[in-house]
Amino acid sequence: VEIYLQGLSGVLPTMPMAFDELERRAESALPASVWSYVAGGAGDEATQRANVAAFGHWGLVPRMMVGATERDLSVELWGRRWPAPVFLAPIGVIGLCAPGGHGDLETAQAAGRAGVPMIASTLSVDPLEDVAAELDDTPGFFQLYTPKDRELAESLVSRAERAGFAGIVVTLDTWVTGWRPRDLATSNFPQLRGHCLANYFTDPRFRSMLGTDPASAPQAAVLQWVTTFGHSVTWDDLRWLRSLTKLPLILKGIQHPDDARRAADEGVDGIYCSNHGGRQANGGLPALDCLPGVVEAAGGLPVLFDSGVRSGADIVKALALGATAVGIGRPYAYGLALGGVDGIIHVLRSFLAEADLIMAVDGYRTLGDLTPDALRRIVAPP
Ligand code: FNR
Repeated sequence: VEIYLQGLSGVLPTMPMAFDELERRAESALPASVWSYVAGGAGDEATQRANVAAFGHWGLVPRMMVGATERDLSVELWGRRWPAPVFLAPIGVIGLCAPGGHGDLETAQAAGRAGVPMIASTLSVDPLEDVAAELDDTPGFFQLYTPKDRELAESLVSRAERAGFAGIVVTLDTWVTGWRPRDLATSNFPQLRGHCLANYFTDPRFRSMLGTDPASAPQAAVLQWVTTFGHSVTWDDLRWLRSLTKLPLILKGIQHPDDARRAADEGVDGIYCSNHGGRQANGGLPALDCLPGVVEAAGGLPVLFDSGVRSGADIVKALALGATAVGIGRPYAYGLALGGVDGIIHVLRSFLAEADLIMAVDGYRTLGDLTPDALRRIVAPP
């Protein structure tokens, strides 16, 4: 309504209203190597494209005359009420997309202003304490890439707990970087730039391992980071991870129902179904196709979902397939590139407004009304 009313007085939106245009304009705004990093994926990016295409295989069936004039999209998760079942997925080194170079702070400011929870990446340009401080009352989660050194992992998690984060998300699928031709072609490994490693460089355990101030020996500090990054977490590590924190523990990167079942049996607090936006392993299933099996195996545990969400309609479909909350990834990085904090908020508000309008028009008043019955599989013509 706000946008239509502005249009009546001749004021048109300066930010793109459709995802394709958002993507096109972000590509023009960013340096080519940064664009390769953010938009690129693994292999020929078939899985990345399939993530997006999978949403087109489902159609929502509208219900009429239910009086959906008032909708409630709020959800209770880990003891907090979220205004909508949507969050910002972790994006490492997002500072590369930020006009001011501090992408994590801008993301946290946008999350705080919009009231949309954020998951802060381990690989941030800004220290996690500064990120947490920008979130106000909005829940923030710390995403852990588990380092090989256990004391360093313990230090990062306890810092996150002290900083006020509401949960720890352990990413399982990126202990080694996938085969990413666009990054390889541009020799782009932005994580290796010293300034991108604020969480490590400010960490007491990391500094003691390095034995010197990272600022005075940036090259050595980066090498030190390379040697400690990337522990391939196994089920044997889960008890140790659990012991690190009383905060909710969520495992990111789960796609197989058996993994979801085992995680639930071993006492995690949430499962995060994702294929990392197709950045890690090509040749895989679209993450959306994995969601129903993961939800069923999770046995009632909250299931976060991301990979391929490009609209409010996609959010509604993922919720109907059983996601408890849905993560926005690349689209908010594009919003940041085009408009800083306001650009992220624009993307969030657009997605949420579309999701809310679809629920209004289609007659779904609450998240409880969104079950798989709301969807039909679209059968491709022969
Ligand atoms: C990511 N993702 C990610 N995940 C994570 O757990 N830690 C991280 O540091 C990053 N870094 C990162 C950088 C970039 C540039 C992208 C695009 C993604 C994965 C992210 O959390 C999410 O799973 C995907 O972005 C979802 O896919 P779409 O919807 O963005 O295509």
